[in-house]
Amino acid sequence: MDKNIKLELRNITKIFGKNPPKVISLLNEGLSKSEIFKKTKQTVGLNNVNFKVYDGEIFVIMGLSGSGKSTLLRCLNRLIEPTAGKILIDGQDITQMNAKELRDIRRTKIGMVFQNFALLPHRTVLDNVAYGLEIQGIPKEKRYSKALAAIESVGLKGYEHSKITQLSGGMKQRVGLARALANNPDILLMDEAFSALDPLIRSDMQDELLALEDRVQKTIIFVSHDLDEALKLGDRIALMKDGEVVQIGTPEEILTEPADSYVSKFVEGVDRSKVLTAESVMKRPEPLVSINSGPRVAIQLMKNHGISSIYVVEGKNRHLKGILMIGDALEALKTGKSLEVAMFPDSPRVAPDLPLNEVIPLIAESQYPLAVVNDSGKLLGIIVRGTVLGALAVSGENGRTETPEEKNPEEKTSEERKSAGKFFEYKPPEKIVFIGKNKGEVGHSSEDSGVTDGKGDIINDGIDSGAPAKATAKVPLRSDSGSGQEAKTC
Ligand SMILES: Nc1ncnc2c1ncn2[C@@H]1O[C@H](COP(=O)(O)OP(=O)(O)OP(=O)(O)O)[C@@H](O)[C@H]1O
Ligand SMILES: [Mg+2]
Repeated sequence: MDKNIKLELRNITKIFGKNPPKVISLLNEGLSKSEIFKKTKQTVGLNNVNFKVYDGEIFVIMGLSGSGKSTLLRCLNRLIEPTAGKILIDGQDITQMNAKELRDIRRTKIGMVFQNFALLPHRTVLDNVAYGLEIQGIPKEKRYSKALAAIESVGLKGYEHSKITQLSGGMKQRVGLARALANNPDILLMDEAFSALDPLIRSDMQDELLALEDRVQKTIIFVSHDLDEALKLGDRIALMKDGEVVQIGTPEEILTEPADSYVSKFVEGVDRSKVLTAESVMKRPEPLVSINSGPRVAIQLMKNHGISSIYVVEGKNRHLKGILMIGDALEALKTGKSLEVAMFPDSPRVAPDLPLNEVIPLIAESQYPLAVVNDSGKLLGIIVRGTVLGALAVSGENGRTETPEEKNPEEKTSEERKSAGKFFEYKPPEKIVFIGKNKGEVGHSSEDSGVTDGKGDIINDGIDSGAPAKATAKVPLRSDSGSGQEAKTC
């Protein structure tokens, strides 16, 4: 990920009340938010919040109801004025800007998506999406062409002339998203944007946001009270409590190294090896070689990337055909064999949603990396031992005792694993040749070279290189009292 800082908060504090300096002095004396409220009837919205958000990152803010998530998000475009502190966007302190400068920043750099859609019900989709451009005085033709592009980017092409009242909740939120995107802002602020949607639509919207993010690379600050959503979407997550940020980290860090008992309660009961999936630990499958290429191309790619084997795919859709070892490639070059003949077609493969606890025994058995492949056979990523070992170490620390009905996945037979329905076509390799330094690790260079399909077309769907991809999880949110309720608690 690009590590340019897009947005930075320095000591942001927000006090709701008549005498903020008094509250700030009480905070300095160490009084808590509730003590201050009892004493002064003023509310600490935010207390000394500091963090940086990087360009192209999805940064999730989560915490219990009232912890200050919306206040924080709204401070970022000064819909709420911070009481103290600085907010830098591209290095410019927006807290110092006058009304006009602020308006310009809001129009050009920031888009906002609200939970309740905030659409104009009697206008068409097109006029809703174009609304922000309209109030900026942008001529009709230009604003419509921008709005149409945004509508298309959220999958609503064809609905331009529908009325908002004719749309489902999911469609309305797409309109909200399109409106925020219409001006092509660098930063998207999303406050519980998907919380009003029913679970399946919500999950689709999350997937689409990730796909959109891959295409457009916005910096997204996403407020959620839902751990599942935060783990799925966030490159990093900030956990808030009583107006303070108690921890910032990647989903893995939040799960594996909770900073305090508040964070632990959020992630309590989550067995990481069950929460994390194949998709969450896979790496970018690069380089790849097209089945239409010759062995010379494959050898060159392996040489350039310092690897000893390479995945062979077909077409732009990266349909996985097999794995080619360097020894077999050299042999093929001598004998004039095609890649299809030289490769090993039965490389082990798993579905993206296979839980890590089922991935672990497979990777232990296999001397190849595991290919992560979707239903249509597209190679999504690869899993190498190193990544899984990290996760294994963590699950060892977990201290979680196994219940009698939970059989150790290592002890499961392959039939049992197959019957879990998520594992297909695994056959232990008959022939294994590892040459070179990256023994046991295949085709996972961290260099983002783009992958060609043999005809010069790039096949690259933007899986993060190097770092594990985003985690997916299915866990309830625990309340402060640890009652295990789903959804928001106070
Ligand atoms: N306009 C306001 N006036 C007074 N207090 C406010 C105002 N807005 C927010 N607060 C208080 O600031 C704190 C943070 O509220 P905020 O709305 O940011 O919480 P949140 O984390 O977004 O909660 P939720 O998950 O319920 O949306 C709360 O204690 C809230 O009561
Ligand atoms: Mg809120």
